[in-house]
Amino acid sequence: MEDLKAKITESVEFINQKSNIKPKIAIILGTGLGRLAEDIQEKEIIPYSDIPNFPISTVQGHGGNLVLGKLENKEVVAMQGRFHYYEGYNLKEVTFPVRVMKKLGAEVIIISNAAGGMNRFFKRGDLMLITDHINLFGDNPLIGPNDEELGLRFPDMSEAYDRKLVELTLKVALKEKIKLHQGIYVGLTGPTLETPAEYRFLIKIGADAVGMSTVPEVIVANHMGMKVLGISCITDLAINGVVVKTGLEEILKAASDAEPIMTKLVKKVIQKIDY
Ligand code: HPA
Repeated sequence: MEDLKAKITESVEFINQKSNIKPKIAIILGTGLGRLAEDIQEKEIIPYSDIPNFPISTVQGHGGNLVLGKLENKEVVAMQGRFHYYEGYNLKEVTFPVRVMKKLGAEVIIISNAAGGMNRFFKRGDLMLITDHINLFGDNPLIGPNDEELGLRFPDMSEAYDRKLVELTLKVALKEKIKLHQGIYVGLTGPTLETPAEYRFLIKIGADAVGMSTVPEVIVANHMGMKVLGISCITDLAINGVVVKTGLEEILKAASDAEPIMTKLVKKVIQKIDY
């Protein structure tokens, strides 16, 4: 436990030597938001591999950088590339960067992902504001001894996704005429996509979208007392349990088509976030 705090401190001190930015906002640039990093001004790009205690990225071509700088004139820290459970990291490794970003000063975290849409009103390329989640990882990043200085043993999850940020984002979307659904994200380990029976099960338990990330980071962000905003880009569909067969290429295509809209939405929200 002491070890975890010491590791966070070591990472934070290293990053602070590289950048003077004191970010209030953290962003995890998942699929569909990757290019937002290009809009960050006065930026310092730090490869994960340089940061002490950061997991080492296994996915080839996945930009593994921490980017510090200014977005819409606000100081931000962004993860360009994230760590997935299915890659073989444990959930403490997956979520370690979230703890570091909080200790760098971030009070708000914006998380994006690609997800399979199960709600019959969804179309490929649509955006969904995450209002709540269901953890079906069969694991939890907080299992093990708890350090009360980092967060509570039994963190409240009744508002895992900050209601005020949800309202703000809906307002921005309305003003900018961006189509934005609201829904429940269910997180599974992957890397397999779901069977038709699994999709039917996930719909029955109340989920609107399914993916392989986000839930662990959101749990740790809540443990650390951060306010969370989550947005899914719907990259493929399984409506009524009928899977529209999708390959990685189509998933990435839908995500890249939705990217300009997602980027615009997030930037406008960042403009409006105040402390
Ligand atoms: N299932 C799980 N993860 C995903 C999907 C899906 O259909 N689409 C994008 N990520």
